Amino acid sequence: MSKSIAIDGPAGAGKSTIAKMVAKELGFIYVDTGAMYRAMALYMIKNGIDPSESEKISATCQSADITIKYEDGVQVVYLNGENVNGQIRTEAVGNMASASSVNGDVRKKLVELQQKLAQTTDVVMDGRDIGTVVLPGADLKVYLTASSKVRADRRYKELVAKGVDCDFDAIEKDIIDRDYRDMHREISPLKQAEDAILVDSSDMTIEQVAGKILELYKNVTE
Ligand code: DC
Repeated sequence: MSKSIAIDGPAGAGKSTIAKMVAKELGFIYVDTGAMYRAMALYMIKNGIDPSESEKISATCQSADITIKYEDGVQVVYLNGENVNGQIRTEAVGNMASASSVNGDVRKKLVELQQKLAQTTDVVMDGRDIGTVVLPGADLKVYLTASSKVRADRRYKELVAKGVDCDFDAIEKDIIDRDYRDMHREISPLKQAEDAILVDSSDMTIEQVAGKILELYKNVTE
């Protein structure tokens, strides 16, 4: 049977960076489920759909063929045959992903894809509903969080380093709004699974968090 680690938590908690490090160390594949929701959101944007048009979102998602490939160890997301890795990291796509991921038809489609991947491969999978819905039987479940100030500060520094002009308060507000949407949606809201271990990364380095998760995994598999 394949092995799995589920990492859930709010935006900007460091899930993807840490999940990648843990996957590399264990020789597992890192599955970024947020990228799949982002690819779906990009498809909605390309089709001129508004986040409030839930019926259109349900209908349109049926014609989105999202697949994942690994090229040189990097996850590449294909949307109807096109590599969209370079188009899904914008704030606009992130906000649309948060809005369109409330849709039950979108979730059903992507959860099936994620479960299929984990059936045949050892995975570290990150997202919002991995421990609660996608992989309820995961060997280890981690709920990774950090304060909104710390998460906004990380995002702010990332953008400044890229030379993007930005406003700290606006970034923090965006993070708080997105958390609210992700935690209060009707289907599969972001929450800590009962058997998940809480890790607060506010005062930890990336290496310390990755080390902690590897230690937790060792404990459950020994
Ligand atoms: O992790 P991220 O920022 O790339 O995710 C983008 C959005 O996708 C996020 O606001 C919520 C949604 N998402 C989800 O609903 N379920 C997941 N398993 C992963 C992401």
